[in-house]
Amino acid sequence: MGASAALGLPEISSAQGRPNEQFYRFPEGFKWGCATASYQIEGGANEGGRGKSIWDTFSHIPGKVYHNQTGDVADDDYHRYKEDVQLLKSLGATVYRFSVAWPRIFPEGTGKPNPAGIDFYSRVVDELLANGIEPFCTLFHWDLPQALQDRFGGWESRETAKAFGEYAGYVASKLSDRVHHFFTTNEFSSFIDIGYKDGRFAPGLQLPPAKLNQARHNAVLAHGLAVRAIRAQGKPGTRVGLAENFVIAVPVIEVEPHLKASREATRLMNAPYLTVIMEGKYPELYLRQQGANAPKFTAEDLAIISSPLDFVGANVYTPAYVRADDKAPGGFVRIKNPSSYPHMASPWLDIGPEALYWAPRHLGQIWNVKEIYITENGCSSADVLTPDGHVYDTDRIMFLRNYLTKLNRATSEGFPVRGYFLWSLMDNFEWADGYSLRFGIYYVDFETQKRYPKMSAAFYREVIRHNAVV
Ligand code: NOJ
Repeated sequence: MGASAALGLPEISSAQGRPNEQFYRFPEGFKWGCATASYQIEGGANEGGRGKSIWDTFSHIPGKVYHNQTGDVADDDYHRYKEDVQLLKSLGATVYRFSVAWPRIFPEGTGKPNPAGIDFYSRVVDELLANGIEPFCTLFHWDLPQALQDRFGGWESRETAKAFGEYAGYVASKLSDRVHHFFTTNEFSSFIDIGYKDGRFAPGLQLPPAKLNQARHNAVLAHGLAVRAIRAQGKPGTRVGLAENFVIAVPVIEVEPHLKASREATRLMNAPYLTVIMEGKYPELYLRQQGANAPKFTAEDLAIISSPLDFVGANVYTPAYVRADDKAPGGFVRIKNPSSYPHMASPWLDIGPEALYWAPRHLGQIWNVKEIYITENGCSSADVLTPDGHVYDTDRIMFLRNYLTKLNRATSEGFPVRGYFLWSLMDNFEWADGYSLRFGIYYVDFETQKRYPKMSAAFYREVIRHNAVV
């Protein structure tokens, strides 16, 4: 059966529907795939010796997640991973980004590893490789062992950073014979700012500014310790980076002085995370602005945090429009029409395709990054399954086509983007929004666990097949 038939769609011969040869093609060898994360898809919460994570605890507290939904079962990928690898294969994907659940490996966060945990991921990796799909592994996608929250206050303590380094080194020692790319952390601002400041994500805390800044510092320190541990314990040639949703300043008009303002804005708005990682110091202005609440750190910390990376991954969703302003701190102001700016089904998901151009351009121009991956891009839609099993998510196709066109501008201008991971392979547990918001290109009926390709899956398959925007 041809792959299009597997998606329930007519076969298109490769001579038909060919995009313009001159435009919108991606470089030879560009990697195409999808991304997922452990707590969002796996389920099997009490199986294989897995310990509890802060998301198990949080999602079971009434009122924290939409309709009190949890990731106990999610997509049941823990049992269905072989079927899910076939979904990737039907798309023609050559890469897959998945995450390892820390509490499956170290149920208590540290100490004795659980062999059944690493064995699960080892089987997933083998299944991917057997199907010609290269695994890219994220080590922390928010499911912190509850034991570390209980013992140390989670990211409030350097002990958690140290534990992360040990865990990362251990996973690399076990998987790097087959996994060549590791991401340390996923989206600092999501798990720290939403988890420890706003309290809308696990562990649901609202720390005061000084403690919050220290938690941010501990998280970037954890990243640095993990980079070093992966290099020390992984096979030679193992490549390390991170997946970061850095704030992407888009110059509201593409001329000076707004261009310069957008670079300064990107540095300053990401000061506690990507900027300190890339530059090995916190920007002066940031430290001044934080005053007595600034994080406490040593020179050694900064050296660890800025350990050289092989690549940087960018999770790209929304633009942050800026204009130049001499009088504002840093020379820029962030602007947005508050009343009519369009967004997707998630209220925060402002549509701004140019973010997918500016993310690689800023990485290349500000920090001279030589290898870039788009580690997430995609959107939520209010998908409807028709009685005959179709999902006509034309809004998602509109979203993807426009963002990919801007990514194509970046590769055409020579910014070194090597691959793209669409978020997400299938509908899954969207954190505090539970199952109410669907990001997949496969629709999941959570009652039956049946997966259905959406129209966007057919679109993405053609993108991959032509290595071009279609
Ligand atoms: C980024 C996060 O990494 C992922 O877990 C989440 O589902 C998507 N954004 C969509 O919100």
